[in-house]
Amino acid sequence: MTSLLEEIETTADVRTPEDPFERIIGQPHAVSIVRSAVVQRRHVLLCGVPGIGKSMLAKAAFSLLGKPREEIRLRRNCQHPDRPEVVRLHTEEHDSVSHPPSELDTVYFAPDRLPFEIGVKMGYRCPRCGSVSFPNQAKCIECGAHKRCDWSDDESYHGLFRMLDVVGEPALNFVTDLREIGGVTYHVTYQRASENQIAVTRQLADGHDIDSSAGIESTERVLVGRNSRRFVRVSGSSPVELLGDVKHDPYGSAEGLGMAAHMRVVPGAIHEAHEGILYIDEIAALGPYQAHLLTAMQDREYAISGHNPLSSGAAVRVDGVPCDFILFASCNTENISSILPALRSRVRGYGYEVMLASHMTKTTENRNGIIRFVAQTIEEDGRIPHLNVDAVREVLSVAESLAQRFDGKNDALTLRLRELGGLVRIAGDIAVQDHSAVVLPEHVKRAEVLSRGIEVSDPSGLAYGRSEAAVSKDYYL
Ligand SMILES: Nc1ncnc2c1ncn2[C@@H]1O[C@H](COP(=O)(O)OP(=O)(O)O)[C@@H](O)[C@H]1O
Ligand SMILES: [Mg+2]
Repeated sequence: MTSLLEEIETTADVRTPEDPFERIIGQPHAVSIVRSAVVQRRHVLLCGVPGIGKSMLAKAAFSLLGKPREEIRLRRNCQHPDRPEVVRLHTEEHDSVSHPPSELDTVYFAPDRLPFEIGVKMGYRCPRCGSVSFPNQAKCIECGAHKRCDWSDDESYHGLFRMLDVVGEPALNFVTDLREIGGVTYHVTYQRASENQIAVTRQLADGHDIDSSAGIESTERVLVGRNSRRFVRVSGSSPVELLGDVKHDPYGSAEGLGMAAHMRVVPGAIHEAHEGILYIDEIAALGPYQAHLLTAMQDREYAISGHNPLSSGAAVRVDGVPCDFILFASCNTENISSILPALRSRVRGYGYEVMLASHMTKTTENRNGIIRFVAQTIEEDGRIPHLNVDAVREVLSVAESLAQRFDGKNDALTLRLRELGGLVRIAGDIAVQDHSAVVLPEHVKRAEVLSRGIEVSDPSGLAYGRSEAAVSKDYYL
């Protein structure tokens, strides 16, 4: 193999691959395992120091996955408003619902399930206390209030319903309303069928009516859309982020009053990664939530409920929300013992543990790899000039000294490429300040002094972590 140093003038002459796997330098073992793992839908635990390509591997794996087949929706549950139902919609079905039938069967239900304001208009519900009684009873059986009076001065929050305009009006036998159901707008007619029964019919609304339906709550909503990006990254240990939540609403699920339960459900990362990849950075940091993650992996579905016990969201639960993801987890070598043993054995039984290298031997091929890495970094950054050959030699010698400093290896090149990428970017910024069209060796040297400065002033060795924190968030992905 010939050295790229003999073939190029600047890093602009280096050919960089498009394939995200080929862009990963110095980890051939990990690359080959990950490639086959994804095809078989296996979980992967990536171990190794920061900045060596763990996130890159997970993202490359994602590029091999096909489009998701399922969309996850939630439907309002009329019998149990606090138990919204899950609808798993296959892509093929999706296309058929875009042409819904124009009229649907009439359904019957009890007056207490009418939307609040419709219940008031039809004379069932008391606008003051909200309880339900027959329309022929002028006074509420619960609070004794006149059902057709203006209670707007009243202390209770039902006084809000002054805008309902029922004052003095007789109770209505039927009410028509516009509702959006699954993205389609219908005229919904509520009609008194018997003393205790309401007939509900829906009919497709005309196009020009659709605007006036704005703000009307739908009875079904998309939780995880079929076009959503199913690569989801989790860091930290928030159960809400991982497992989902139900937002608080001061009115709870009171019919027509608060926001319906199914609208308040927030999916967790495990659900958003359904059919895709869930990437957990530093899995040990999940602490006790690793057990929940394990359950989700075993069952491939996980209930969403409110996490704050003081919130009205705590009363809500959605069972069986699908979460059939491939787990990619990263772990620092020291933290491997903090991974829940059962979770680790699940990964081993149904996937792979891969150790990533932090350095590589100084062969021509590997030196070429570092050169290609420099070219990739400049390409990705887009704001800095390329390096001339001598500047590249300088980067190679820094790569060598980093392998010596961090890993105690001679004749090796570092694979802590986030660190090396930082150096290239600083050198590029210095060249830009110098109005230089290419990055020269002196720019690399000055960049190295700058980046080393932090470490010298911090003998504890924590500087590595700190300089990492200073890097913008993008580099973590
Ligand atoms: N093996 C590698 N090949 C090419 N670039 C790398 C490699 N490792 C790290 N990098 C560079 O460093 C950045 C951070 O890498 P990342 O994959 O987030 O590391 P990790 O997840 O192991 O902490 C990447 O965006 C890339 O620019
Ligand atoms: Mg990362």
